Amino acid sequence: MTTTPAARTLNFWIRHVQSTDSTQDHLFRMARAISSPPPTGTVVVADRQTRGRGREGRSWLSPAGGLYASILVHEHDLHALGPALSGPAPLLRLPLLAGLAVADMASGWEGAAPLPVAIKWPNDVFLDGRKLAGILCEAKEGRAVIGFGVNLVDAPLPTAATLAELFPHTAARPARDAVLERILAAFAARLARTDMAAEVDARLWQKGGRALHNGTEIVLQGVAESGALLAQTERGLLEIISGEITFPDGKESQP
Ligand code: BTN
Repeated sequence: MTTTPAARTLNFWIRHVQSTDSTQDHLFRMARAISSPPPTGTVVVADRQTRGRGREGRSWLSPAGGLYASILVHEHDLHALGPALSGPAPLLRLPLLAGLAVADMASGWEGAAPLPVAIKWPNDVFLDGRKLAGILCEAKEGRAVIGFGVNLVDAPLPTAATLAELFPHTAARPARDAVLERILAAFAARLARTDMAAEVDARLWQKGGRALHNGTEIVLQGVAESGALLAQTERGLLEIISGEITFPDGKESQP
């Protein structure tokens, strides 16, 4: 018989702010500034951000009306949060688990239109082929912060998707806090599971298709248990753990 240590339940403490530069920076500052640091599971949600950040140094437009939230996880807690994060390099799996949580939220509304939800490795969630949400995982000073930006009713770019598209015939759309609550519950549930790779694989954007990884042509094969992207290249099957995947034929809606 094998035994595994009991997973720590991830509880959330939600702090709402009207405006901040970036919920990522806000949380890192909170974690640094106060004498008793905020616990793992502390969430900052902002009505708007003045310097919202995306991956690769890009900015994330954050007008009022969207969901902008970040979760704090102390790195020493990572392994204890559930089997999904046990084993080496848990930080590689965090954005994928966060993406699955957003996908669970987007596909879990009663009466919603059956639009396909996909994950673009490692950090984007697509609805009906356009970007619905971006995820930013950053780790420093012994802490990881997982940020979610979700378009609710308005899309910051004309080519992005919004959650409201799931409800085309009604003005009664999910409120931001209900969306956040579902994402957090789904994230906690995803940590307790061991099927992350298969689940991301099943939703992988452009699986089997051609893409570019830092300029090199690849074919997307799937996702490894570690969270790495499996890519066929001229040199054989590679496990990609960082960098940007782009689609030369424009099969993505925004950077
Ligand atoms: C991306 O697609 O490049 C990731 C975008 C992440 C945006 C979210 S909004 C909440 C949190 N605060 C930030 O400044 N960024 C993340």
